[in-house]
Amino acid sequence: MNIEIFLGRFHPLIVHLPIGFVLLAFLMMLWAKRSKSTSFHQAISFSLLLGAASALGSVILGWLLASDGGYDDSTLFWHRWLGIGVALLTIFAWLVNAGKIKASQRVLPATLWVSVILIGLTGHFGGVLTHGSTYLVQYAPGFIQKMLSENATANEDISLPSQPDSIAVYQHLIAPIINNKCVACHNESKKKGGLILTSQEDILNGGEQGEVVMAGDPYESGLFQRVVLPQTSKKFMPPKGEPLTYSEIKLLEWWISGGASFDEKLLDKPLPKEIETLLLKDFHVSVTVKPYYERVAVEPASAESIDKLTAVGFSTKPLSADNNFLQVELTADSPTFQQIEALLEVSEQITWLNLGGKGITDAMLPVIGKLPNLTKLSIEQNEITDEGVQELRKLAHLQYLNLYGTKISDKALESIKEINSLNSLYVWQTDVSQEAIEALNEDRPNLTIDSGFQFENVN
Ligand code: HEC
Repeated sequence: MNIEIFLGRFHPLIVHLPIGFVLLAFLMMLWAKRSKSTSFHQAISFSLLLGAASALGSVILGWLLASDGGYDDSTLFWHRWLGIGVALLTIFAWLVNAGKIKASQRVLPATLWVSVILIGLTGHFGGVLTHGSTYLVQYAPGFIQKMLSENATANEDISLPSQPDSIAVYQHLIAPIINNKCVACHNESKKKGGLILTSQEDILNGGEQGEVVMAGDPYESGLFQRVVLPQTSKKFMPPKGEPLTYSEIKLLEWWISGGASFDEKLLDKPLPKEIETLLLKDFHVSVTVKPYYERVAVEPASAESIDKLTAVGFSTKPLSADNNFLQVELTADSPTFQQIEALLEVSEQITWLNLGGKGITDAMLPVIGKLPNLTKLSIEQNEITDEGVQELRKLAHLQYLNLYGTKISDKALESIKEINSLNSLYVWQTDVSQEAIEALNEDRPNLTIDSGFQFENVN
């Protein structure tokens, strides 16, 4: 077995011989034709004989080398059969030239033309097998790379969903690494070490030496251990082809440490800073979701409208120096509907609104429902009921909603459930039941609900 590989590894050395000999015969043929000389006949014959012999040798050694596996199947297919084609054509050319096969004058030149073209193609596929498809043009001038990159890119099978929350860790990050670097030798037909890495089931089944993934412990997992050995180690994976990159190793380590789940999403758990950084660097995935008010821009509110608000008992402050959003708070008690309606003067700009404990009623909430950029609303300790809360369903960007100490009940949660952007909800000291909260939490796991439940139990 090993002797085959030992011999096979001479293939790259001797393949250069037939290339030289056949090319030489081809050039002599062209020259002889041009100078109408017959004195090349013997030399062409000798050159073709050496070409045929070395081509045959190359085919045999190449076959042995390929038996070791680990090459891209379709590239290998073309390289192998084109190479065999070259050997057969060269033998044929020699026989024709030596008069052992009777053929018309035109056959020899035609055969040599085809051989030379096939040699070029075979050599190209051979290069792709050993150096990868990007080797040749890696340092090419930009315009050539651009022309080629429209057809092929190095990472073409890594296509990530554009939204970070739809990225599945195994499917989108881990499987592509394994497919690119391991599956050539670990698949249904080529189970090196008894290990198949093409499906969840096979990965969990492990190889001859047992399991290769120990959920939670990469350092005990063959799948990880093997890729971080010194590259000179016999056990280093992949034994052939490109080793894993630093990012790929880190992703694999993080995936196994986190429990090696096959269906977890990227944002299901907090991401370590390092993973966040490499996702951004290598995959251009940004997982830090900016707050709404940093993603949109509004015109500044006019001084006149701010004055109007102040006149009816509101205080306004800019949210930050970078944008025109406003934080607005009611300072007056028990406002009239008209006072509240004044908010519409700056409806675009209000992003934080505090009306806590000021005698707000259901009748005023339709006004609040018309503030399109509201992200934070405090209306706690007011006489608000389920009916009023219905008006808040239209707040498409609301993230924080404080309803503590209001008159709402379970029914309000039905309206609140429709506010998809919401991530913090305060409902303690209301008639909302623990069951309803649990049901909402099940529907919306990312929504933090503060119900003050434990405090009430203590009382
Ligand atoms: C060129 C072929 C080739 C490639 C590519 C390859 N392997 Fe292997 N792998 C082997 C061979 C051969 C064995 C058996 C000999 C050994 O255990 O070292 C093996 C064995 C293993 C084993 C041990 C299985 C057992 O239980 O005995 C693990 C784990 C493994 N490979 C992981 C990987 C990973 C991970 C990758 C991708 C990063 C990979 N291999 C890529 C050829 C390959």
